Amino acid sequence: MKKITIAIDGYSSCGKSTMAKALAKEIGYIYIDSGAMYRAVTLYCLDSGLIDKEGNINKLRLETCMPDVRITFKLNPQTGYPDTYLNGVNVESRIRTMEVSSHVSPVAALPFVREAMVAAQQAMGRAKGIVMDGRDIGTTVFPDAELKVFVTATAQIRARRRYDELQAKGENASLAEILENVKQRDYIDLHREVSPLRQAADAILLDNSEMNIPQQSAWLLDRFHEAAAE
Ligand code: DC
Repeated sequence: MKKITIAIDGYSSCGKSTMAKALAKEIGYIYIDSGAMYRAVTLYCLDSGLIDKEGNINKLRLETCMPDVRITFKLNPQTGYPDTYLNGVNVESRIRTMEVSSHVSPVAALPFVREAMVAAQQAMGRAKGIVMDGRDIGTTVFPDAELKVFVTATAQIRARRRYDELQAKGENASLAEILENVKQRDYIDLHREVSPLRQAADAILLDNSEMNIPQQSAWLLDRFHEAAAE
């Protein structure tokens, strides 16, 4: 069967990574979490003192430093999924902290950061056989992807999923606070000047509000078989 490129875009906290990762494992493709790359750049900024207490980014210095920011992925044999490395150091858990989450949106909106990340993502996908998830994969990174999916669910349902996830990790946050954060992130993603979140004209829309994980994985596997057979 020919190898194809699969782009999974959509709103935050709607289960994109879960379904993209599971599909890649099932069909033996590479999985790349493009959000992890923006998170790694943000961690680099925090570690290098490029973000001050008010959250201002030293853009001039970051732009000069960008050639020194090397982001790679290596399969973690324990989880079966790739871990994110920043300049050779495994940062998979550090990029998931609240500190990184709360600073990543303005970093991901910087045009020179996006330019560098998109070039790196396109290089990773040159040989096809890749599943990449994010916000601009089907529109900007791989406009010629054979399969594009745009995932959505209501803000209330996404907030409830994040709330359950945080509860399971023993972290405290109110449902109302999380819902506000989900709405805020939607706004930033949709209104960013460079590569805002939008559904590609040829993407298949998946509203998974009423689906569980096995149902959405089965749905995606069917779409893969259809696209790969064409
Ligand atoms: O999917 P995530 O929450 O890990 O993404 C982290 C941030 O990066 C979020 O602010 C959206 C942004 N992002 C982006 O701008 N483009 C992508 N292709 C992936 C993520």
